[in-house]
Amino acid sequence: MVAYVCITMKILLIGASGTLGKRLNAALSPDHEVITAGRSSGDYHVDIRSEDSIRNMFGQCPQPEALICAAASGDMDNFATLTQDALLDNMRGKLLGQISLVLVGQHFLPPGGSFTLTSGVFADEPHIGVTGGGVISGALHSFVYAAALELSPRMRVNAVSPGMLQDSAPQYGALFPGLPAISMDAVVHAYRQTLFTDINGQVLRLYR
Ligand SMILES: NC(=O)c1ccc[n+]([C@@H]2O[C@H](COP(=O)([O-])OP(=O)(O)OC[C@H]3O[C@@H](n4cnc5c(N)ncnc54)[C@H](OP(=O)(O)O)[C@@H]3O)[C@@H](O)[C@H]2O)c1
Repeated sequence: MVAYVCITMKILLIGASGTLGKRLNAALSPDHEVITAGRSSGDYHVDIRSEDSIRNMFGQCPQPEALICAAASGDMDNFATLTQDALLDNMRGKLLGQISLVLVGQHFLPPGGSFTLTSGVFADEPHIGVTGGGVISGALHSFVYAAALELSPRMRVNAVSPGMLQDSAPQYGALFPGLPAISMDAVVHAYRQTLFTDINGQVLRLYR
């Protein structure tokens, strides 16, 4: 267990209305100022697929000391009919969107700021129907390793790579036989580690 100091922090949580975001919001709000954002939900509206929208959000919201992205959009794929356009669409909704949050956000967060991105198990464990998801999460990991070097020592960036969330098991369990459900407490703990310790350039994998 990693020990961390939990000081009050202003945290911008993107995707706060989602399965994961709701849990993060509930866990962090009692001790921190959580600013929420989403396409059609939250204190501020943002579409992470658009750099202009991201810039607009940072321009409007109070300056956060940390950003968590639990937002993504995208579909499962059918490999036989998968196209570059379909892949690109999913990439915008999770990979390029989160990369843009860091590229734009580095100019808005203060020194010491922290970014936490969300990837997923398919980066490391392939399953049928998620070729795009695997490529996206794998590329996010590579981005985190490179961006951590670029941002250090001004800022930090890490990713949490969860397996199937316990809260999503009723919805996704049948689609991914054999994929264990990961406890929401363990997932929330990983996000806390990225916020309240000094780790940088880490991918916290929660697969078992
Ligand atoms: N669920 C799982 O088992 C699981 C497992 C591993 C990894 N993950 C990853 O964890 C993250 C969250 O998953 P989830 O299941 O919590 O998703 P979810 O329930 O579908 O929630 C997605 C959230 O993101 C927001 N959002 C979607 N597209 C957006 C966009 N373009 N710009 C801004 N906000 C956007 C949505 O709000 P609006 O509708 O208001 O935009 C919503 O708050 C994703 O990256 C997912 O791939 C999930």
